[in-house]
Amino acid sequence: MRRDIADQFELDPALTHLNHGAFGAVPRSVREAQDRARARIERAPMRAFRDELAAALAGAREQAAAFLGLPTDSTALVRNVTEGVGVVLQGLGIGPGDDVVVSNHGYLTAGWSAEARGATLRRAEFPVDADPGKVTAAIAAAVTDRTRLVIVDQITSPTALLLPVAEVAAAVAPVPVLVDAAHVPGALPGLDVEDLGVAFWAGNLHKWAYTPRAAAALWVAPEHRESMRPLVTSWSHGMPFPERFDLQGTVDHSAWAAVPDGLVAWAELGGWEQVERNAALLLRGAEHVRAALGTESPLGGIPSAPCLRLVALPERVATTTESADALWHRLYAAGFVVPPVAFGGRGYLRLAAAPYNDEDDYQRLAAALPEILAGAPRD
Ligand SMILES: Cc1ncc(COP(=O)(O)O)c(C=O)c1O
Repeated sequence: MRRDIADQFELDPALTHLNHGAFGAVPRSVREAQDRARARIERAPMRAFRDELAAALAGAREQAAAFLGLPTDSTALVRNVTEGVGVVLQGLGIGPGDDVVVSNHGYLTAGWSAEARGATLRRAEFPVDADPGKVTAAIAAAVTDRTRLVIVDQITSPTALLLPVAEVAAAVAPVPVLVDAAHVPGALPGLDVEDLGVAFWAGNLHKWAYTPRAAAALWVAPEHRESMRPLVTSWSHGMPFPERFDLQGTVDHSAWAAVPDGLVAWAELGGWEQVERNAALLLRGAEHVRAALGTESPLGGIPSAPCLRLVALPERVATTTESADALWHRLYAAGFVVPPVAFGGRGYLRLAAAPYNDEDDYQRLAAALPEILAGAPRD
């Protein structure tokens, strides 16, 4: 680990952290800013909720939109991407009799949210090594005349692929597309959400933009803004989008109040330069791990996310959820926080690169893997 940077976080130094994508990691300065926001509320709750929070949360929301290069009136704060998905499903009135399209690389909570509302899920399937044209064709082929929404991940969670969301949106039009962009804010340079041709885009700020958990941004295309409501109707009722998402009654607003501090930490950690550095580091790191495993690159024509990448495990290792879980525990016991992923009958490691990582992290993982795998059961 890069000690100079790792010391700015509060991660357990006994572990090698190679899984930033999962839940992010909050820098100490941001956790302290959130603590201050919470302490201020506690000093005078009435003053905070009645007089102060509306302006503080509006400011945080506007800074989040600016960070994403989006207009102030286009983007609401939500607690996480999954809440954003719920808002969209509710706003579109999706329920029994409606189809929602997801993919086999999609984050499961989005699909579950649709099923929980009584919609029927249709799952587009494509392999890890598909090319972008196949992805678009597979998703378009899953659309029926009952499809009310297509949900597509911009950076896929199990496979770390960068999907062609603009092409998908063009192929399925006029069906609206919701982009699950959980891993995108602060991690994908050159983003232009308004140019994707999609209806909705939701991204977590608490993964790669260093805000406290739980903070996420929900961008909505102009024609859908009027119908989007928070899942909890509270004191912002009757206000226009996106203000009506701000004050949600008596909840802990400290994470949102400290969103600006997280964005400052992102810039101080190096902004897009650190993303570039981490992307280069990850290529070298993944090669160390791949060489130690003796496997081929699993990738085809779809690029990987800059700071997340799959390396294939040997055959018959971690090919099921159960055996991937068992391997997770073996890796963890050896001091490595790195997720094995079972996908399409094959096992992978999903590696991440964050500002606190250095090449030594991957080299040590590569050196330890033969022994860790030697004791792992084969499927
Ligand atoms: C692609 C994707 N979507 C959604 C989520 C869910 O995030 P949250 O729990 O913040 O809603 C994740 C979490 O890792 C993710 O990887």
